[in-house]
Amino acid sequence: MSSSLYFLEFWILLADYQESINSSRSKSLFTDTRTGVGDGAGTSIKCIERDRHALLAIKQSLIDDYGHLSSWGKEEHKKGCCKWRGVSCSNQTGQHLNYLDLSYNDFGGQQIPEFIGSLNKLRYLNLSHAWLAGRVPHQLSNLSKLQTLDLSGNWNMYAIKLDWLSHLSSLTHVCLNSVNLSEAVDWMQVVSQLPSLTELQLKWCDLPSVTSSSISFVNSSKSLVLLYLFGNDLSNSTYLWLSKFSSSLVDVDLGSNFLEGPIPDYTFENMTSLMHLYLGYNQISGTPKSLGNLCTLKTLYLNVNNLRGPLSDLLNLFGCTRETLEILSLDYNMFSGSLPDFTKFLSMKELSISNNRLNGTIPKTIGKLFELEVLDLSSNLLEGMLIEAHMSNLSRLSYIDLSDNSLTLNFGSAWVPPFQLQTIRLGSCRLGPHFPEWLHTQKNCSLIDISDAGISDIVPSWFWDLSPDKYYLNVSYNHMKGTVPDLSMKFGDHPGIDLSSNDFEGPIPPVPSNLTSLNLSKNRFSGSISFLCTVLGEIFTNLDLSDNFLTGELPNCWLQLQDLVVLNLANNNFSGRIPDLSSAKCSIQSLYLRNNNFIGGLPSSLKMCQELKFINVGENGFSGKIPTWIGESLPNLVVLSLRSNRFNGSIPLQLCQLPYVQVLDFSLNNISGTIPKCLNNLTAMIQRGSSVSTITHTYLSYMSSSVSGTGTEYIDIATLVWKGTDQEYIRNLGYLKSIDISSNQLIGEIPEEITSLEGLISLNLSRNHLTGPISPQIGQLSSLDSLDLSNNQLIGEIPTSFEFLNFLGMFYLSNNNLSGKIPSIAKLQNFDASSYVGNPELCGSPLPRKCPEEKPAQAPAPAIITHHNDDGVINQGFYASVALGFIVGFWGAVGSLLLNKSWRHAYFRFLSHTKDRLYVAMVLNVAKLQRWLRN
Ligand SMILES: *[C@@H]1O[C@H](CO)[C@@H](O)[C@H](O)[C@H]1NC(C)=O
Ligand SMILES: *[C@@H]1O[C@H](CO)[C@@H](O)[C@H](O)[C@H]1NC(C)=O
Ligand SMILES: *[C@@H]1O[C@H](CO)[C@@H](O)[C@H](O)[C@H]1NC(C)=O
Ligand SMILES: *[C@@H]1O[C@H](CO)[C@@H](O)[C@H](O)[C@H]1NC(C)=O
Ligand SMILES: *[C@@H]1O[C@H](CO)[C@@H](O)[C@H](O)[C@H]1NC(C)=O
Ligand SMILES: *[C@@H]1O[C@H](CO)[C@@H](O)[C@H](O)[C@H]1NC(C)=O
Repeated sequence: MSSSLYFLEFWILLADYQESINSSRSKSLFTDTRTGVGDGAGTSIKCIERDRHALLAIKQSLIDDYGHLSSWGKEEHKKGCCKWRGVSCSNQTGQHLNYLDLSYNDFGGQQIPEFIGSLNKLRYLNLSHAWLAGRVPHQLSNLSKLQTLDLSGNWNMYAIKLDWLSHLSSLTHVCLNSVNLSEAVDWMQVVSQLPSLTELQLKWCDLPSVTSSSISFVNSSKSLVLLYLFGNDLSNSTYLWLSKFSSSLVDVDLGSNFLEGPIPDYTFENMTSLMHLYLGYNQISGTPKSLGNLCTLKTLYLNVNNLRGPLSDLLNLFGCTRETLEILSLDYNMFSGSLPDFTKFLSMKELSISNNRLNGTIPKTIGKLFELEVLDLSSNLLEGMLIEAHMSNLSRLSYIDLSDNSLTLNFGSAWVPPFQLQTIRLGSCRLGPHFPEWLHTQKNCSLIDISDAGISDIVPSWFWDLSPDKYYLNVSYNHMKGTVPDLSMKFGDHPGIDLSSNDFEGPIPPVPSNLTSLNLSKNRFSGSISFLCTVLGEIFTNLDLSDNFLTGELPNCWLQLQDLVVLNLANNNFSGRIPDLSSAKCSIQSLYLRNNNFIGGLPSSLKMCQELKFINVGENGFSGKIPTWIGESLPNLVVLSLRSNRFNGSIPLQLCQLPYVQVLDFSLNNISGTIPKCLNNLTAMIQRGSSVSTITHTYLSYMSSSVSGTGTEYIDIATLVWKGTDQEYIRNLGYLKSIDISSNQLIGEIPEEITSLEGLISLNLSRNHLTGPISPQIGQLSSLDSLDLSNNQLIGEIPTSFEFLNFLGMFYLSNNNLSGKIPSIAKLQNFDASSYVGNPELCGSPLPRKCPEEKPAQAPAPAIITHHNDDGVINQGFYASVALGFIVGFWGAVGSLLLNKSWRHAYFRFLSHTKDRLYVAMVLNVAKLQRWLRN
């Protein structure tokens, strides 16, 4: 969990990177351009002594590490605290301090100083994002003139009650976002009593829900215009409360709460001014009838709810709203039917209906939405063809997402669209087989995804030159041909590039030095990868060059890529030793070097890569002992495959220290010695089931989707030999638990301890020199689907406890020295003789040899038919073990974010929190940000 979050942070860094840098460039530390009358006028206004003292007392009580309050009390300002940073005084009274802005500071988690209560003429107090914490002091209630109060972005601040707020009757603006108000059951009462309140922001406050009965006593307020309550625990009763503010409300956000069921008709009945309504991320169902009569409504978000039924039913509800509505977002519901006629929605600018169940074709009337800027119909069941006529009037369109449907875009090669797109997401739309010429006209796109578009063509050179500021390009899963030109100057800041699964050939081209992600896998690129040393490495997180014809050695700069999360060089012809380099930091989680010609030992600098979860260095010429540091320094390891190399020596006991390891594959090496008894310390293998179905990593990319806000994920693939063939495990890798030490030189007995690995799905110890009997405890390995102990020197009888291995689908004991009668239990009788042959002393069905005092054998029962799914492995037992697990890992959670309220809550809160902190850190000082990100 923690490491996933860690990478999420990196994603956020990228998403905010530019924004923050721009802000820090253009914005001074304090928003103190608003100064007192003393400026401009040239008169020297003094602040009164009492305020001066209060401010100095505040300064005293805050630890100001960064010296942001250094101007306070300085000689040259002595006469007027009105000129101190973040402070200003009233025009009229001339002297009183009425404005205090300490926002965006780092006060290291201190409380708000109580002295603040003595600045009783204050009208404006902004302590937002100041890293203040603790309980909000009651003394704030003395600030009776206060009109604006902003304490937002202080994530560890809380208030038990809000009664102090009710004394501040002049308040017009209150912003307490992220202040924990979970105990403040009086909040609805208090804010309803503030007579002049126009703006109220209580996002991420953990606001408790209030019973309907207590609301009925609340007076209605006529002044509230803006109400943001996103990300709280509010339930249905909020509707009643909301209706008390009816006529004044303009902007309402109730997103990510616990609103369930239908929206009551009365709530919005009289909201004659409502323009923006955000109800996303709830569990709203039914027909939101009353919304259609809001004749001022411009923005309506109902995304991520439980709305269902034909989309046309919803749209038919809209009366006068049709003419005003500009933004309609219905993503992640279950709307069905075909896309209705939108012609009457004359003002529509953004239409997002992704992730529903819309079917049929896209009607040409969509082309009548002249104002349309954003069109997102992705992940539906739409089909048919889109032609120029659909689009010829959409001159303002800048964002289009039609991905994950079955659409064909058939635009003439000479067509000049009326729009200039910034975002093109057409993944899995059919654009080919020829390269879509109309793209040539799109000069401003920053994101292009034309993956899986059926394009089998040479990429025209203009395509690479298209909009040199683009930061994401995905042309994967096509049949694009030809060489790729120098890309180093053809992208904007920190781009992500995915050219995978095409027919590109020739050398890997020069790439932008500040790349974040590069996927060239499954092509025919050849030559060396010296380009790696030109990549700066700063937030370069994903490099996948697998399945190409690349050669040469791994350049010695590879470990300088300190933020690399995934490095996949599998299935190439790389050779030589892996350079060992000391580097300050290593973030790699997945290392795939499989199927190359690497030699030498594993570099010990890998022990710095403590995040490593996945190591596959199989099918190379690696030699030496299995390093002990794998067990000592890589506590997060899940998969370790050393298969088919020249490793020797014994299995280090340190490997038993790996609590998460699920796959150990040491097969086809020269490993000697005995099987360590401590294997029963492998916690993940003892537990049945698994918490995650796939092992995924996020890496930085701008591909974050607007709905779920997640980073791009990388799903690990394990290639393992399963039932005699190479299998790729993708979807269910997380459930696989396997030990394969076959084809080595192991001696001694199979340790009894191995029988406690009850989660094991597969155990292969074949082709060694193992001796001794098979433990009767073997029956404990009840998840086992595959067991191969063949080609050893095992002795004794076959234990009857095999009868408990209900899910055994593959089973080999052949070529040992087992003796006696094969137990006549159905389980064992169902395998054919090949499972037992080569044991001279073994007798009984299904072997042809009869045991001495045995009656003639009966015909064997038919063999079990094992049903395979795509991943090859899954049998009943597998599912059983899966069902036992708690199937919500981190990315599982993000996937089910849309379904699971509490996760969503935590996730958004986290995201928002992190962004806030990041922003503050960035504004304060970049070095500090880097420290923060790296610790
Ligand atoms: C205070 O002074 C500023 C600048 O001199 C002026 O723009 C503003 O209107 C004044 N406010 C009042 C309330 O007089
Ligand atoms: C408080 O200051 C921040 C940063 O300067 C600003 O963005 C915010 O709008 C201010 N809050 C209010 C209520 O004015
Ligand atoms: C909200 O209303 C719906 C439908 O009326 C109901 O099913 C649900 O239980 C209510 N939830 C709460 C928390 O009152
Ligand atoms: C809406 O206004 C009508 C007419 O003034 C009134 O009868 C009704 O009670 C109001 N509805 C709500 C929920 O306040
Ligand atoms: C990243 O590279 C591009 C192109 O090489 C360049 O325009 C941009 O300024 C670079 N950005 C940073 C932050 O170095
Ligand atoms: C067992 O695992 C724990 C950590 O899970 C480790 O501290 C301990 O050393 C291991 N014991 C052996 C014998 O490896």
